[in-house]
Amino acid sequence: MELAEAIARRRSIRLFTGEAIDTGLIDELVDAAISAPSSLNAQPWHFHVALGAAREAAGAAIAQSTRFLQEYADMLPPEMLDKAARFYADLGRAPVLIAVSVPEADDEVDRINVLVAAGAAIQNLMLRATDLGLGACCITVPRWVVDQVKSAMRVPEDRMIAGLVLVGKPAEEPVAAPRRRDVVTYIE
Ligand SMILES: Cc1cc2nc3c(=O)[nH]c(=O)nc-3n(C[C@H](O)[C@H](O)[C@H](O)COP(=O)(O)O)c2cc1C
Repeated sequence: MELAEAIARRRSIRLFTGEAIDTGLIDELVDAAISAPSSLNAQPWHFHVALGAAREAAGAAIAQSTRFLQEYADMLPPEMLDKAARFYADLGRAPVLIAVSVPEADDEVDRINVLVAAGAAIQNLMLRATDLGLGACCITVPRWVVDQVKSAMRVPEDRMIAGLVLVGKPAEEPVAAPRRRDVVTYIE
């Protein structure tokens, strides 16, 4: 698939068939991820791939967050809250969870550098997933269960999860979410 097509076709997939995927394909996703740029080529990322029982444990930790979602009741319409609760309950049956961790950093520039690198790696991973006919969605670990998810995914204390990527065979074809176009300023 051409790069432009993969960029255009990538969507956040939140519903999967539940079928397992070959570890060879996961290796290909990680290969794409580690080709990303990073400040001073520090490659601050680590990929914690949860399958089987580990995936279930991480999923159970995320599912705990559904009872806290009411905190958003003032901000989100009830149907969105319901949708989020259903999604976090089983993560759309994604068979693979990949936590992308980076070192905790006190210095602001260091923190920006590691997070930007992780973002680049995650996007590479998701584009390669699209290319391979897989579905993926990057989510933020819900704040209430960060420690439980880190523990389930064996993320060391001194690292944080920049993004949790769900991967599997897609069971939906979402329409593209609208994009704003007023986001560019040319300066001459
Ligand atoms: C850093 C980051 C965090 C995200 N967190 C969540 C999340 O917690 N839950 C979720 O359902 N989607 C999450 N998403 C997916 C976005 O909602 C999605 O990218 C956006 O709506 C645009 O849709 P698209 O990816 O299909 O183009 C996240 C995406 C990014 C890049």
